[in-house]
Amino acid sequence: MTAWHPDAEGRLFDRILYGGDYNPEQWPPEVRQRDRELFPQAGINSVSINIFAWASLQPDAESYDFSDLDAIFDSLEADGYQIVLATSTASMPAWLARLYPEVNRVDYEGRRHRHGGRHNFCPTSPAYRHFAGRLVSRIAARYGSRRGLVCWHVNNEYGGRCYCELCEAAFQNWLAARYGTVERLNEAWNLKFWGHNIRSWEDIVVPNLLGDGMADGRTTFAGLSLDYDRFQNEQLLSLYTMERDLIRAHDPLNPITTNFMGLYKPLDYFRWAEEMDLVSLDNYPGRDTPPWANALLHELTRSLKRGQPYMLMEQTPSQQNWQRWNSLKRPGQMRQMSYQALANGADTVQFFQLRRSRGGCEKFHGAVIAHAGHAETRVFGEVAALGRELARLSTSGLPGTRVLTAVGMLMSWEIYWGLEYTSGPSVDLRYHEQLDHYYHGLHRLGVNVDLVHPDFDLAKYRVLIAPVLYMLSAAQARRLSDWVRAGGTLVTTYMSGIADLNDNVWLGGYPGPLRELAGIWAEEIDALLPGHRNAMRPTAAAAEWLGAERYSCGLLCDRIHAETAEILATYESDFYAGEPCFTVNRYGEGLCFYLASMPEDALLARLYRQILEAANVAIIPDLPDGIEVSLRQRGTERYRFVINTLCEARTLDRSLRPAGAASLLDPGEGGSDTELEPFAVRIYRWEEEE
Ligand code: GLA
Ligand code: ZN
Repeated sequence: MTAWHPDAEGRLFDRILYGGDYNPEQWPPEVRQRDRELFPQAGINSVSINIFAWASLQPDAESYDFSDLDAIFDSLEADGYQIVLATSTASMPAWLARLYPEVNRVDYEGRRHRHGGRHNFCPTSPAYRHFAGRLVSRIAARYGSRRGLVCWHVNNEYGGRCYCELCEAAFQNWLAARYGTVERLNEAWNLKFWGHNIRSWEDIVVPNLLGDGMADGRTTFAGLSLDYDRFQNEQLLSLYTMERDLIRAHDPLNPITTNFMGLYKPLDYFRWAEEMDLVSLDNYPGRDTPPWANALLHELTRSLKRGQPYMLMEQTPSQQNWQRWNSLKRPGQMRQMSYQALANGADTVQFFQLRRSRGGCEKFHGAVIAHAGHAETRVFGEVAALGRELARLSTSGLPGTRVLTAVGMLMSWEIYWGLEYTSGPSVDLRYHEQLDHYYHGLHRLGVNVDLVHPDFDLAKYRVLIAPVLYMLSAAQARRLSDWVRAGGTLVTTYMSGIADLNDNVWLGGYPGPLRELAGIWAEEIDALLPGHRNAMRPTAAAAEWLGAERYSCGLLCDRIHAETAEILATYESDFYAGEPCFTVNRYGEGLCFYLASMPEDALLARLYRQILEAANVAIIPDLPDGIEVSLRQRGTERYRFVINTLCEARTLDRSLRPAGAASLLDPGEGGSDTELEPFAVRIYRWEEEE
């Protein structure tokens, strides 16, 4: 079977795909006809279909009816659209749930769910696998070599967990294969704690709120919960690979993907990306999500396949329905958010959805075509205008270029899971918030940041930030230490190097296998009550380098001893006033900084600026709030994006347009390079000297 890969220019498709989810099975012929007339005016070139049509394609367990999908496919193909074909397995037909009730999930409270929602199949159920597989084979055989097809969209937003008896039995087998003997499992989960050691694999009970569950999502045995997450992740992934292989058997050419949701906790997307031709993002920030925090999700999505361009598979053109308050995107904001994706490495812009549903829970979800049913709306106009721009950009050389950066932030889903199952030291220690906090300051300096799994090749990075690197294997710690020794600059924090990958603590003092690297020993970890703060006071030697007299800090305060590290700051108050809270250790050719408490933004801004400059990473200091800068490249070609993410005008104190650079979005006119209107976007293209 041919493995798919981007073309010689690095492109996913021969143009920027622009379009999105379309659900014509919900509509009568006259509405479909109307859509056919409206689509060309919307400037789209791509349509995603067959996302939730299983019940229409298969009236019962034995028969199939593809006549409607044939008609939809034929008409879109005839009109020249690039078709993204989904497999419809994300929403089960009623007959399947009726004939095989075990396809419905059992939840964390032990309740069997009933037919109703979507994304709700038990990943272990043989009936679900059988019928989903049969359907996908038929779809792949029927459409796999059609001219209009450009991409496969498997299932939809895989996610969630099942805790049923089928999953329990499969979990027992999975554990037997992983650990070999019950003794090893007892050890891995430290089951002698509270006398929970087991004698046989059948003693294993899946996580349950009425079993090992505790308050605030914590569990008695994080080892059990972690392994259950790993197991369920693999079960769901095996559904994806089943569909993928069935499709590949009929279609050797087109890329196969499924849609991701950023830092969606239940799925280890690093693991998924290994099995996928390309990755894609469904992008639904709330109105209160700061744009920079959304940039983190774009950078993450790009990083999953080590910088290969990705698809922006879904975004709403205007509003959502499932937030509590579903604000409209302001005029220009949809365009700006689309460019935020392109800036960070996306090569498509797709919407959910093309026509707004009439009934069901998404009838208030935004769409290109509103309930009014014509083109004379603000949203339709903005969509059409962006379509014209993207058509020009499609031939600009931009598609297929890459974001290349020497700065990374280490993270893993296993840490996400393990950290948040762990009881203590503080319920306010949330992984996503920590990643946000440490990302923000880098982003403000105009550098791109890769999200880096600890097992990735680290050699291309000069600076790595490792907030709350809670779980770490000995091998990962060694690789990280070797990377610093060879000249890397690492910033790590409280709650790093604490546990191994089974969530058992590394003995011998925190931060365990990072102790020699950081040159400190953390003796105790204090948790601050909400609203309580301490402060970091720079030492005399570090005063100039750190620039201010004090920086506020909080959340956790490690009491640390500097062993080989130099002390940069000490605590201002509490019984550990005067003890070190910020250190740096020279290790081989490199440096390891350790933050014993969570500092305010100002300290990170200062620290990042100093270490990036010292590491010769190009930064853009003093960017006004809300201005984002990102760089894509290929060979000597450079594309710098400058985006005003706010609904207010912004002034830059210097132009970010290099001499001789072309401005791609306003050829001929050249909007101001320093006065950026609300939601302004500039793309500057130039050739770098070899
Ligand atoms: C998800 C789904 C879509 C739709 C949108 C609405 O991303 O994939 O089917 O429900 O949410 O925001
Ligand atoms: Zn199950």
